[in-house]
Amino acid sequence: MNNDKLVRAKILVIDDDVNMMDVLSVVLRRYGHEVKTYTEPLAAIEELRRNKYDILLVNYLMTPVKGDKIVETVREFNKEIYIILMSIHKDLAPSIETMQHLDIQAYYEKSNRFDNLILLIQGGIKYIEQINKIKTMNNQLDHYLVDFAKILLQTIGAKDHYTEEHSRRVTLLCIAFANYLNLDERQKSDLQIAAAFHDIGKIGIPDNILLKTSRLTDEEYNVIKTHPVIAANIFSVSDIYKDIYPIMYHHHERYDSKGYPAGIGGKQIPYLARILTICDSFDAIVSKRTYKEGQTIEFALTEIEKGAGTQFDPELAPQYINMVKNNMSYIEQIYNEF
Ligand SMILES: [Fe+2]
Ligand SMILES: [Fe+2]
Repeated sequence: MNNDKLVRAKILVIDDDVNMMDVLSVVLRRYGHEVKTYTEPLAAIEELRRNKYDILLVNYLMTPVKGDKIVETVREFNKEIYIILMSIHKDLAPSIETMQHLDIQAYYEKSNRFDNLILLIQGGIKYIEQINKIKTMNNQLDHYLVDFAKILLQTIGAKDHYTEEHSRRVTLLCIAFANYLNLDERQKSDLQIAAAFHDIGKIGIPDNILLKTSRLTDEEYNVIKTHPVIAANIFSVSDIYKDIYPIMYHHHERYDSKGYPAGIGGKQIPYLARILTICDSFDAIVSKRTYKEGQTIEFALTEIEKGAGTQFDPELAPQYINMVKNNMSYIEQIYNEF
C-alpha cells in the first residue's frame, strides 16, 4: 500500500454464504490477490480495526446484521478502504443514496461469472493508486512549505537576528503545545507554519524602528503594530496559505478584545491564533533583548497565569502552564540552545 503501484490487493470478504465465499477466494487468489474471509461480521470488523486492507467485499443481505450496517461501522474508523457491496439481485440492492452516504464505491451482482467482479477490483486498485499518489504529493507540498519557511526565516535573520531566533523558539513551543493538546495533523502543520512566519511582517518595518535599542515612541510602536497585517498580506497572495494567514494576522489579539489589529476577542479569535499568542508571549518574556534581561521560565508562567481571561484564553493558559511544567527539561533546552 505504500508504493504507488499496487498490483495485488489485500481483500477482506464478509459473506454468510460459505459456498459462495469459497468460490470467491479461489477466483481472487488465482488473480494474485491476498484474501481473508469472514462469516461473522463482528470478527471481520475487529480484523479491519487491527490490520490494513485495500478492499472490502461485503454481502448486503445477511442476518442478523445487513451489509450496509457493517459498512456504517467500518466507515466510522476507516474512510480509505475501497468497498464493494454484493447482492444476489440488483432489485435487492440498497438505494444509490445509501451507497453514496456510506461511500460504497461499487456494486457487484453475484453470478457464476466473475469477470465483472475482477474488473471492479481492478478499478478499486486504480482508485487506491490515485489516492496514494495524492497523499505523496500532499506530503511533498508540506515539505516544500517547510523548506520555504526556512528560506524566509533566513531572510528575516539577515535583517533582524532576534526575530529569526524568536520565530524558531516559538515554533518549537507551538509544536510541544500542539502535541500536548492532541491537535490533528492538519492543525499541527498549520500552526507550525504560522508560528515560523508569524513575525515575517517585520520585514516591512523600517530598520530605524525595528532595530532601535532604546524605548520606542508611541508613533514608532504603532508602526511595529502593523507587522501582523503585513504578514497576512504577504501570505494572502496564495490559496495554499488561506488557513494559515488568519493565524498570523490575529497573533496579537487579546482575549478581552484590547489587542490588535482587529480588536476581536474571546472565541472570535481563531483557536490556533490563541495558541500562538501564548507561546509568542511566553518567549517574549523569557528571551533576552538589548533593552531588557530575560526572565525565568517560572516568572513567565506566572505572567501567563495572570493574563488568563484578559490577554489569554482562560482555558488554554492553564493547559500551557501544565505543558511547560510537564516538559521542563525540554523547554529549558530550547532556551539553552539559542
Ligand atoms: Fe508579533
Ligand atoms: Fe512574535
